[in-house]
Amino acid sequence: MDIKVAIIGGTGVYDLDFLSEKKTTTVSTPFGAVSLQTGLYQGIGTAFLARHGHDHSVAPHRINYQANLWALKTLGIQRVLATAAVGSLRRELPPGHLVLVDQFIDFTKQRPLTFFEGQDSPVVHTDFTEPYCPELRRYLLESAPAGCWLHNRGVYVCTEGPRFETPAEIRLFAQLGGDVVGMTGIPEVVLARELGLCYATIALVTNYGAGLSSQPLTHQEVLECQQANANNLRSLLQNTLPRLKGNPGCQCRKANPGL
Ligand code: HPA
Repeated sequence: MDIKVAIIGGTGVYDLDFLSEKKTTTVSTPFGAVSLQTGLYQGIGTAFLARHGHDHSVAPHRINYQANLWALKTLGIQRVLATAAVGSLRRELPPGHLVLVDQFIDFTKQRPLTFFEGQDSPVVHTDFTEPYCPELRRYLLESAPAGCWLHNRGVYVCTEGPRFETPAEIRLFAQLGGDVVGMTGIPEVVLARELGLCYATIALVTNYGAGLSSQPLTHQEVLECQQANANNLRSLLQNTLPRLKGNPGCQCRKANPGL
């Protein structure tokens, strides 16, 4: 089976029930082994990776991002669609809306930053003018299911977690130009680009950021909103996958020539 597309499932997305011929595969990488599923949807070979594990046992700051992205590259993946539960920084962006983020601001503190480190590695400064693949974002936008609120752009702020933010942090992030906040987007998008993979995030707003609603924030609220919107997310992925038959026409694979 030719597998060129991967889906990384975030909070609440632990399985892709629409894939047929599903198999579990383990890929070894210099950063550790990665277990993922492969399968088919309308003739498109697809890999599926549950970012937090199938039982949500891996916290955002403990995810082996380097192993995950390296494993996808090893499999021959060209394009990665990632889902992410996010909090909203803006009242006009309510829970249930989907955002195809186009920029990020990095507030992580102690995660691997790059594949280019160690004695024998060159120093590499990768361009991030357009952090998310514009072609993938366009395919996703054109695949929105009816009745689904899908925003074409948004600024994703990534925190270290695993705690939720304080209301002061939420106000700060909004003032800085952020639209949504999550804990897993970095370094995933960075490592994907370093490897020349096309990468796009579908962010599902599961809650208002701390202080924007009168209730304390719980992981349960995040999960419930994710479940309530699972059908939209599934339809969006199903509508998009068949469009990914050809090779990418964007510049993502040229990010680091020679890799
Ligand atoms: N903050 C950070 N990460 C999140 C949130 C949030 O409010 N909701 C879902 N993931």
